[in-house]
Amino acid sequence: DQAEKGGYDHFMLKEIYEQPKALRDTLSGRISADGTRVVLDEVSLTPEEIRTLKRIYITACGTAYHAGLVGKYILERLVRLPVEVDIASEFRYRHPIIEPGTLVMVISQSGETADTLAALREARRQGARVIAVTNVVGSSVSREADDVIYTWAGPEIAVASTKAYTTQLVAMYLFALYLAAERKTAEPGQIRELLLGLKKLADKAQSILDNTVEIKDFAGEFATCKDLFFIGRGLDYAVALEGSLKLKEISYIHAEAYAAGELKHGTLALIEEKVPVVALATQVSLFDKMIGNIQEVNARGASVLALAMQGLKEVEKVAGKVVYIPETNPVLAPVLTVIPLQLLAYHTAVARGCDVDKPRNLAKSVTVE
Ligand code: G6P
Repeated sequence: DQAEKGGYDHFMLKEIYEQPKALRDTLSGRISADGTRVVLDEVSLTPEEIRTLKRIYITACGTAYHAGLVGKYILERLVRLPVEVDIASEFRYRHPIIEPGTLVMVISQSGETADTLAALREARRQGARVIAVTNVVGSSVSREADDVIYTWAGPEIAVASTKAYTTQLVAMYLFALYLAAERKTAEPGQIRELLLGLKKLADKAQSILDNTVEIKDFAGEFATCKDLFFIGRGLDYAVALEGSLKLKEISYIHAEAYAAGELKHGTLALIEEKVPVVALATQVSLFDKMIGNIQEVNARGASVLALAMQGLKEVEKVAGKVVYIPETNPVLAPVLTVIPLQLLAYHTAVARGCDVDKPRNLAKSVTVE
Protein backbone atom coordinates (compact mmCIF):
# COMPACT_ATOMS: atom_id res chain seq x y z
CA ASP A 1 0.00 0.00 0.00
CA GLN A 2 2.73 2.41 1.07
CA ALA A 3 4.74 1.62 -2.06
CA GLU A 4 1.71 2.27 -4.28
CA LYS A 5 1.33 5.69 -2.72
CA GLY A 6 4.75 6.58 -4.11
CA GLY A 7 5.92 8.39 -1.00
CA TYR A 8 2.71 10.37 -0.48
CA ASP A 9 0.68 9.99 2.71
CA HIS A 10 -2.52 9.33 0.81
CA PHE A 11 -3.65 8.31 -2.66
CA MET A 12 -5.63 11.53 -2.89
CA LEU A 13 -2.53 13.66 -2.48
CA LYS A 14 -0.62 11.52 -4.96
CA GLU A 15 -3.45 11.90 -7.46
CA ILE A 16 -3.61 15.67 -6.94
CA TYR A 17 0.10 15.81 -7.74
CA GLU A 18 -0.32 13.59 -10.78
CA GLN A 19 -2.51 16.19 -12.46
CA PRO A 20 0.16 17.84 -14.62
CA LYS A 21 0.98 14.47 -16.14
CA ALA A 22 -2.68 13.50 -16.45
CA LEU A 23 -3.42 16.77 -18.27
CA ARG A 24 -0.52 16.24 -20.66
CA ASP A 25 -1.50 12.64 -21.33
CA THR A 26 -5.11 13.57 -22.02
CA LEU A 27 -4.02 16.22 -24.53
CA SER A 28 -1.40 14.03 -26.11
CA GLY A 29 -2.00 13.40 -29.82
CA ARG A 30 -5.21 15.42 -29.77
CA ILE A 31 -3.88 18.75 -31.02
CA SER A 32 -2.49 18.97 -34.56
CA ALA A 33 1.27 19.59 -34.82
CA ASP A 34 0.68 23.15 -36.05
CA GLY A 35 -1.58 23.86 -33.06
CA THR A 36 -4.58 24.86 -35.16
CA ARG A 37 -7.04 22.03 -34.71
CA VAL A 38 -8.30 19.29 -32.45
CA VAL A 39 -7.72 15.71 -33.55
CA LEU A 40 -10.45 13.47 -32.17
CA ASP A 41 -10.52 10.47 -34.46
CA GLU A 42 -12.50 8.57 -31.85
CA VAL A 43 -15.55 10.75 -32.52
CA SER A 44 -17.50 9.32 -35.45
CA LEU A 45 -19.94 12.19 -35.97
CA THR A 46 -19.84 13.26 -39.63
CA PRO A 47 -19.36 16.95 -40.52
CA GLU A 48 -23.01 16.95 -41.60
CA GLU A 49 -24.12 15.49 -38.24
CA ILE A 50 -22.07 18.09 -36.38
CA ARG A 51 -23.59 20.93 -38.41
CA THR A 52 -27.14 19.70 -37.80
CA LEU A 53 -26.83 19.13 -34.04
CA LYS A 54 -29.70 20.80 -32.20
CA ARG A 55 -29.14 20.13 -28.53
CA ILE A 56 -26.75 18.45 -26.13
CA TYR A 57 -27.57 16.75 -22.83
CA ILE A 58 -24.77 16.00 -20.41
CA THR A 59 -25.51 13.51 -17.68
CA ALA A 60 -23.31 12.18 -14.84
CA CYS A 61 -23.02 11.80 -11.05
CA GLY A 62 -20.91 13.46 -8.37
CA THR A 63 -17.72 15.09 -9.50
CA ALA A 64 -18.32 14.01 -13.09
CA TYR A 65 -21.60 15.97 -12.96
CA HIS A 66 -19.62 19.02 -11.91
CA ALA A 67 -17.35 18.52 -14.90
CA GLY A 68 -20.55 18.49 -16.96
CA LEU A 69 -21.55 21.87 -15.55
CA VAL A 70 -18.26 23.35 -16.76
CA GLY A 71 -18.88 21.54 -20.05
CA LYS A 72 -22.21 23.33 -20.46
CA TYR A 73 -20.62 26.76 -20.14
CA ILE A 74 -17.88 25.88 -22.58
CA LEU A 75 -20.12 24.24 -25.16
CA GLU A 76 -22.71 26.99 -25.08
CA ARG A 77 -20.04 29.65 -25.37
CA LEU A 78 -18.00 28.04 -28.11
CA VAL A 79 -20.52 25.93 -30.02
CA ARG A 80 -23.67 28.02 -29.57
CA LEU A 81 -25.92 25.01 -28.94
CA PRO A 82 -28.33 24.68 -26.02
CA VAL A 83 -26.85 22.34 -23.42
CA GLU A 84 -28.61 20.84 -20.42
CA VAL A 85 -26.81 19.08 -17.60
CA ASP A 86 -28.59 16.49 -15.52
CA ILE A 87 -27.70 14.37 -12.57
CA ALA A 88 -27.94 10.87 -14.05
CA SER A 89 -30.46 9.67 -11.46
CA GLU A 90 -32.77 12.51 -12.52
CA PHE A 91 -32.29 12.40 -16.27
CA ARG A 92 -34.18 9.17 -16.90
CA TYR A 93 -37.22 10.12 -14.91
CA ARG A 94 -37.88 13.53 -16.36
CA HIS A 95 -38.82 12.48 -19.88
CA PRO A 96 -35.98 14.25 -21.70
CA ILE A 97 -36.80 15.43 -25.20
CA ILE A 98 -34.71 13.35 -27.54
CA GLU A 99 -35.15 14.14 -31.24
CA PRO A 100 -32.99 13.97 -34.34
CA GLY A 101 -29.99 16.20 -33.66
CA THR A 102 -29.90 15.40 -29.94
CA LEU A 103 -26.51 14.38 -28.60
CA VAL A 104 -26.17 12.86 -25.14
CA MET A 105 -22.82 12.96 -23.36
CA VAL A 106 -22.19 10.82 -20.30
CA ILE A 107 -19.20 11.51 -18.08
CA SER A 108 -17.93 8.82 -15.71
CA GLN A 109 -14.48 8.22 -14.30
CA SER A 110 -15.13 4.52 -13.63
CA GLY A 111 -17.58 3.95 -16.46
CA GLU A 112 -19.55 1.75 -14.05
CA THR A 113 -21.81 4.12 -12.10
CA ALA A 114 -25.25 2.50 -12.18
CA ASP A 115 -27.29 5.66 -12.69
CA THR A 116 -25.00 6.97 -15.41
CA LEU A 117 -25.13 3.65 -17.21
CA ALA A 118 -28.91 3.56 -16.93
CA ALA A 119 -29.13 7.10 -18.32
CA LEU A 120 -26.92 6.08 -21.22
CA ARG A 121 -29.14 3.08 -21.96
CA GLU A 122 -32.30 5.14 -21.79
CA ALA A 123 -30.84 7.77 -24.12
CA ARG A 124 -29.85 5.11 -26.64
CA ARG A 125 -33.22 3.39 -26.37
CA GLN A 126 -34.82 6.67 -27.38
CA GLY A 127 -32.50 6.95 -30.36
CA ALA A 128 -29.96 9.49 -29.13
CA ARG A 129 -26.36 9.45 -30.21
CA VAL A 130 -24.23 8.91 -27.07
CA ILE A 131 -20.66 10.04 -26.51
CA ALA A 132 -18.95 8.92 -23.31
CA VAL A 133 -16.09 10.58 -21.49
CA THR A 134 -14.52 7.96 -19.25
CA ASN A 135 -11.22 6.99 -17.68
CA VAL A 136 -11.53 3.23 -17.87
CA VAL A 137 -10.92 1.36 -21.10
CA GLY A 138 -13.38 -1.49 -21.51
CA SER A 139 -15.77 -0.17 -18.82
CA SER A 140 -19.52 -0.70 -19.27
CA VAL A 141 -20.03 2.91 -20.31
CA SER A 142 -17.22 2.68 -22.87
CA ARG A 143 -18.69 -0.48 -24.36
CA GLU A 144 -22.24 0.82 -24.66
CA ALA A 145 -21.68 4.37 -25.92
CA ASP A 146 -21.47 5.13 -29.65
CA ASP A 147 -18.15 6.91 -29.19
CA VAL A 148 -15.70 7.27 -26.32
CA ILE A 149 -13.37 10.12 -25.51
CA TYR A 150 -10.94 8.67 -22.97
CA THR A 151 -9.40 10.71 -20.22
CA TRP A 152 -5.87 9.47 -19.63
CA ALA A 153 -5.70 10.19 -15.92
CA GLY A 154 -4.43 6.74 -14.96
CA PRO A 155 -6.02 4.75 -12.14
CA GLU A 156 -7.77 6.86 -9.53
CA ILE A 157 -7.89 5.11 -6.14
CA ALA A 158 -9.00 7.78 -3.65
CA VAL A 159 -12.77 8.00 -3.32
CA ALA A 160 -12.66 11.77 -3.80
CA SER A 161 -12.05 12.41 -7.47
CA THR A 162 -9.32 14.87 -8.45
CA LYS A 163 -7.28 14.09 -11.54
CA ALA A 164 -10.29 12.49 -13.21
CA TYR A 165 -12.16 15.81 -12.91
CA THR A 166 -9.43 17.99 -14.42
CA THR A 167 -8.96 15.57 -17.30
CA GLN A 168 -12.73 15.43 -17.86
CA LEU A 169 -12.58 19.20 -18.25
CA VAL A 170 -9.82 18.84 -20.82
CA ALA A 171 -11.94 16.33 -22.73
CA MET A 172 -14.83 18.81 -22.74
CA TYR A 173 -12.60 21.64 -24.02
CA LEU A 174 -11.27 19.45 -26.81
CA PHE A 175 -14.72 18.29 -27.82
CA ALA A 176 -16.13 21.83 -27.74
CA LEU A 177 -13.29 23.18 -29.88
CA TYR A 178 -13.70 20.23 -32.25
CA LEU A 179 -17.39 21.04 -32.76
CA ALA A 180 -16.76 24.79 -32.89
CA ALA A 181 -14.30 24.40 -35.77
CA GLU A 182 -16.78 22.39 -37.83
CA ARG A 183 -19.73 24.62 -37.01
CA LYS A 184 -17.63 27.78 -37.47
CA THR A 185 -18.87 29.18 -34.18
CA ALA A 186 -15.36 30.17 -33.07
CA GLU A 187 -12.72 32.08 -35.03
CA PRO A 188 -9.61 30.11 -36.03
CA GLY A 189 -7.55 32.56 -33.96
CA GLN A 190 -9.66 31.92 -30.87
CA ILE A 191 -9.34 28.17 -31.36
CA ARG A 192 -5.55 28.46 -31.71
CA GLU A 193 -5.33 30.60 -28.60
CA LEU A 194 -7.37 28.18 -26.49
CA LEU A 195 -5.40 25.18 -27.76
CA LEU A 196 -2.18 26.93 -26.80
CA GLY A 197 -3.71 27.77 -23.43
CA LEU A 198 -4.67 24.12 -22.94
CA LYS A 199 -1.10 23.02 -23.62
CA LYS A 200 0.22 25.42 -21.00
CA LEU A 201 -2.14 24.23 -18.25
CA ALA A 202 0.08 21.36 -17.08
CA ASP A 203 3.00 23.67 -16.23
CA LYS A 204 0.66 26.12 -14.54
CA ALA A 205 -0.89 23.31 -12.49
CA GLN A 206 2.64 22.30 -11.48
CA SER A 207 3.41 25.81 -10.28
CA ILE A 208 0.33 25.71 -8.01
CA LEU A 209 1.48 22.35 -6.63
CA ASP A 210 4.95 23.73 -5.97
CA ASN A 211 3.61 26.48 -3.68
CA THR A 212 1.14 25.09 -1.19
CA VAL A 213 2.33 26.57 2.11
CA GLU A 214 -0.40 29.22 2.28
CA ILE A 215 -3.14 26.74 1.39
CA LYS A 216 -2.00 24.44 4.19
CA ASP A 217 -2.16 27.34 6.64
CA PHE A 218 -5.68 28.23 5.58
CA ALA A 219 -6.70 24.58 5.86
CA GLY A 220 -5.46 24.62 9.46
CA GLU A 221 -7.80 27.53 10.16
CA PHE A 222 -10.77 25.83 8.46
CA ALA A 223 -10.31 22.59 10.36
CA THR A 224 -12.30 23.80 13.37
CA CYS A 225 -15.24 25.39 11.55
CA LYS A 226 -18.73 23.90 11.38
CA ASP A 227 -19.98 25.45 8.16
CA LEU A 228 -18.25 26.83 5.13
CA PHE A 229 -19.54 28.59 2.04
CA PHE A 230 -18.16 28.72 -1.47
CA ILE A 231 -19.29 31.48 -3.80
CA GLY A 232 -18.59 32.26 -7.43
CA ARG A 233 -20.12 33.43 -10.68
CA GLY A 234 -20.15 31.81 -14.10
CA LEU A 235 -17.50 29.13 -14.43
CA ASP A 236 -16.38 29.92 -10.89
CA TYR A 237 -19.80 28.84 -9.64
CA ALA A 238 -19.40 25.45 -11.31
CA VAL A 239 -15.97 25.06 -9.67
CA ALA A 240 -17.36 26.24 -6.32
CA LEU A 241 -19.76 23.28 -6.38
CA GLU A 242 -16.83 20.92 -6.84
CA GLY A 243 -14.77 22.63 -4.11
CA SER A 244 -17.68 22.31 -1.73
CA LEU A 245 -18.25 18.62 -2.55
CA LYS A 246 -14.53 17.86 -2.08
CA LEU A 247 -14.48 19.49 1.34
CA LYS A 248 -17.65 17.89 2.65
CA GLU A 249 -16.94 14.38 1.43
CA ILE A 250 -13.53 14.05 3.07
CA SER A 251 -13.55 16.50 6.02
CA TYR A 252 -17.25 16.12 6.99
CA ILE A 253 -17.57 19.89 7.36
CA HIS A 254 -20.90 21.18 6.17
CA ALA A 255 -20.19 23.12 3.00
CA GLU A 256 -22.44 24.81 0.47
CA ALA A 257 -21.71 26.41 -2.85
CA TYR A 258 -23.73 29.38 -4.00
CA ALA A 259 -23.92 31.44 -7.13
CA ALA A 260 -22.64 34.68 -5.66
CA GLY A 261 -25.48 36.69 -7.17
CA GLU A 262 -27.97 34.48 -5.33
CA LEU A 263 -26.60 35.25 -1.85
CA LYS A 264 -29.19 37.94 -1.23
CA HIS A 265 -31.96 35.44 -1.84
CA GLY A 266 -31.21 33.34 1.19
CA THR A 267 -27.69 32.34 2.10
CA LEU A 268 -26.72 35.76 3.34
CA ALA A 269 -28.92 35.02 6.36
CA LEU A 270 -26.39 32.37 7.42
CA ILE A 271 -23.35 34.62 7.24
CA GLU A 272 -22.29 35.85 10.67
CA GLU A 273 -19.06 36.70 12.51
CA LYS A 274 -16.15 34.50 11.47
CA VAL A 275 -18.05 32.20 9.09
CA PRO A 276 -15.52 31.19 6.45
CA VAL A 277 -16.36 32.03 2.85
CA VAL A 278 -14.24 30.91 -0.07
CA ALA A 279 -14.82 33.39 -2.89
CA LEU A 280 -13.73 32.40 -6.39
CA ALA A 281 -12.84 35.40 -8.54
CA THR A 282 -11.05 34.18 -11.64
CA GLN A 283 -13.58 35.32 -14.22
CA VAL A 284 -12.33 38.70 -15.36
CA SER A 285 -15.63 39.86 -16.87
CA LEU A 286 -17.47 39.13 -13.61
CA PHE A 287 -14.75 40.39 -11.30
CA ASP A 288 -16.38 43.67 -10.26
CA LYS A 289 -19.60 41.86 -9.44
CA MET A 290 -17.65 39.37 -7.32
CA ILE A 291 -15.94 42.18 -5.43
CA GLY A 292 -19.42 43.47 -4.59
CA ASN A 293 -20.45 40.02 -3.33
CA ILE A 294 -17.33 39.73 -1.19
CA GLN A 295 -18.17 43.11 0.33
CA GLU A 296 -21.66 41.81 1.15
CA VAL A 297 -20.32 38.89 3.16
CA ASN A 298 -17.57 41.03 4.70
CA ALA A 299 -20.19 43.39 6.02
CA ARG A 300 -21.67 40.46 7.98
CA GLY A 301 -18.31 39.57 9.49
CA ALA A 302 -17.36 36.63 7.25
CA SER A 303 -13.77 35.50 7.08
CA VAL A 304 -13.04 35.53 3.35
CA LEU A 305 -10.48 33.51 1.46
CA ALA A 306 -10.43 34.66 -2.16
CA LEU A 307 -9.10 32.64 -5.04
CA ALA A 308 -8.32 35.01 -7.88
CA MET A 309 -6.53 35.05 -11.19
CA GLN A 310 -3.03 36.51 -11.06
CA GLY A 311 -3.19 40.21 -11.85
CA LEU A 312 -6.58 40.83 -10.22
CA LYS A 313 -4.94 42.52 -7.24
CA GLU A 314 -7.99 44.59 -6.39
CA VAL A 315 -9.25 41.54 -4.51
CA GLU A 316 -6.73 42.18 -1.71
CA LYS A 317 -8.73 45.26 -0.70
CA VAL A 318 -11.74 43.12 0.25
CA ALA A 319 -10.37 39.70 1.17
CA GLY A 320 -8.20 39.02 4.21
CA LYS A 321 -6.64 35.98 2.58
CA VAL A 322 -5.90 35.59 -1.12
CA VAL A 323 -4.55 32.71 -3.20
CA TYR A 324 -3.71 33.43 -6.84
CA ILE A 325 -3.86 31.02 -9.72
CA PRO A 326 -1.55 31.55 -12.72
CA GLU A 327 -2.94 33.71 -15.50
CA THR A 328 -4.82 31.86 -18.22
CA ASN A 329 -7.77 32.44 -20.53
CA PRO A 330 -10.72 32.66 -18.09
CA VAL A 331 -12.51 29.93 -20.08
CA LEU A 332 -9.72 27.52 -19.08
CA ALA A 333 -9.42 28.70 -15.48
CA PRO A 334 -11.50 25.88 -13.87
CA VAL A 335 -8.69 23.38 -14.46
CA LEU A 336 -6.41 25.53 -12.28
CA THR A 337 -8.95 26.97 -9.84
CA VAL A 338 -10.00 23.56 -8.60
CA ILE A 339 -6.45 22.55 -7.57
CA PRO A 340 -6.14 24.85 -4.53
CA LEU A 341 -9.66 23.73 -3.56
CA GLN A 342 -8.64 20.07 -3.73
CA LEU A 343 -5.61 20.87 -1.56
CA LEU A 344 -7.73 22.85 0.84
CA ALA A 345 -10.12 19.92 1.27
CA TYR A 346 -7.24 17.47 1.61
CA HIS A 347 -5.29 19.41 4.24
CA THR A 348 -8.43 20.28 6.17
CA ALA A 349 -9.39 16.61 6.31
CA VAL A 350 -5.88 15.61 7.39
CA ALA A 351 -5.91 18.28 10.11
CA ARG A 352 -9.19 16.80 11.37
CA GLY A 353 -7.76 13.29 11.40
CA CYS A 354 -10.20 11.98 8.78
CA ASP A 355 -9.70 8.88 6.67
CA VAL A 356 -8.98 10.88 3.52
CA ASP A 357 -8.86 8.08 0.96
CA LYS A 358 -11.90 6.22 2.29
CA PRO A 359 -14.42 8.67 3.69
CA ARG A 360 -17.21 7.18 5.77
CA ASN A 361 -20.32 5.95 3.96
CA LEU A 362 -18.91 6.60 0.49
CA ALA A 363 -17.65 4.31 -2.25
CA LYS A 364 -15.39 4.97 -5.22
CA SER A 365 -17.86 3.57 -7.66
CA VAL A 366 -21.59 3.41 -6.98
CA THR A 367 -22.83 0.38 -8.88
CA VAL A 368 -26.29 0.25 -7.28
CA GLU A 369 -29.04 2.75 -7.99
C1 G6P B 1 -18.79 8.37 -6.44
C2 G6P B 1 -17.35 8.84 -6.21
C3 G6P B 1 -17.15 10.21 -6.84
C4 G6P B 1 -17.53 10.18 -8.30
C5 G6P B 1 -18.95 9.64 -8.51
C6 G6P B 1 -19.22 9.36 -9.98
O1 G6P B 1 -19.65 9.19 -5.73
O2 G6P B 1 -17.09 8.90 -4.83
O3 G6P B 1 -15.79 10.59 -6.72
O4 G6P B 1 -17.45 11.47 -8.83
O5 G6P B 1 -19.11 8.41 -7.83
O6 G6P B 1 -18.36 8.34 -10.40
P1 G6P B 1 -17.98 8.08 -11.87
O7 G6P B 1 -17.06 6.89 -11.82
O8 G6P B 1 -19.23 7.79 -12.63
O9 G6P B 1 -17.29 9.29 -12.38
